[in-house]
Amino acid sequence: SHTPTPEDKFSFGIWTVGWDARDVFGDATRAPIPAERAVHKLAELGAYGVNFHDNDVFAFDESDRDERVSAFRKALEATGLVVTTATTNLFSHPVFKDGGFTSNDRDVRRFALAKVMRNLDLAAELSAKVYVCWGGREGAESGAAKDVRAALDRYKEAFDILGSYVLDQGYDLRFAIEPKPNEPRGDILLPTIGHALAFIEELEHPELVGLNPEVGHEEMAGLNFAHGISQALWHDKLFHIDLNGQHGPRYDQDLRFGAGNVRGAFWTVDALETGGYDGPVHFDFKPPRTEDDEGVWESAKACMTNYLILREKVRAFRADPEVSTALETARVPELAVPTLAPGEDWRTLRYVTIDADALGTRGMAFERLDQLALEHLYGVR
Ligand code: NOJ
Ligand code: MG
Ligand code: MG
Repeated sequence: SHTPTPEDKFSFGIWTVGWDARDVFGDATRAPIPAERAVHKLAELGAYGVNFHDNDVFAFDESDRDERVSAFRKALEATGLVVTTATTNLFSHPVFKDGGFTSNDRDVRRFALAKVMRNLDLAAELSAKVYVCWGGREGAESGAAKDVRAALDRYKEAFDILGSYVLDQGYDLRFAIEPKPNEPRGDILLPTIGHALAFIEELEHPELVGLNPEVGHEEMAGLNFAHGISQALWHDKLFHIDLNGQHGPRYDQDLRFGAGNVRGAFWTVDALETGGYDGPVHFDFKPPRTEDDEGVWESAKACMTNYLILREKVRAFRADPEVSTALETARVPELAVPTLAPGEDWRTLRYVTIDADALGTRGMAFERLDQLALEHLYGVR
């Protein structure tokens, strides 16, 4: 069935459905949706959980913090929706125009870390397990303005401080860095999954930090998302995921999941379902500015429906006996066989020869295999 249930572990950012549809060129086309209404509506649609920025719930000056948090908490209790994830808004207020953790201005960096720690307290209180860090403002538009190596020192310092905070407080929380190549900055630091994976290994507590890759962000950089998350899984670093849709390298479209690059979405679901990902299946999309309130929920529901449709197709593809044969013919299982046999080392290989000309003429039969995938995707199998 394509009807979502909490067992499917679908979750949404409060800011996704809550977006008032203001963009760079135009005013808001919808009224903002308070966190508690988003929680109720998402629960009705069959979602399991939510993710929130501090300022999705309460104002930047925190004057309404207690009442807003209690309304949010009441909605969570009434619906049974889980807070899977939380994050910090370090991008909207003008003070963050040059970043939070890597602003040239030291006072801003200190304030940004305090803001994160305050919301880590709330995240822990609400039992979130993952804390997303999207460094959208960490970057530059011009060359000399940012000393990239110093910025990376400060970026590392920030995660080292936050890691010790979480350990000292005894919070059961891990961080997930969300890469993005550009927008809103001209060039953002940690622009892709690969950059972020390398960075994590330089931290004091690399075990506390993983990734939250977003479909559109990798595709903006022309990268293959399924390959990216497969590598993240290989490193045990896929702590969370932001599913949405994108049409190739252009501005960040944040389309509903399953729209945009449909073939990419098929392989993304395959990578998640076969790769052992067990976190929330989280959507970070924006209902387009053309939509009214009804269109917002239509768009949110479609994210889940499309995931379930693709999951069904991926499972059928993997269970199809013709696919098993095609995989064999394409020698896909052979890649799982180590290149050295037990007991061998480089010495056994040093003088290996093959009939290169004969092997060079042998086809790989990938077209047959890929056509089977497309036929499953196109719905004729
Ligand atoms: C807004 C960004 O657009 C989105 O990609 C990110 O996941 C959230 N902020 C979390 O900070
Ligand atoms: Mg995102
Ligand atoms: Mg995005």
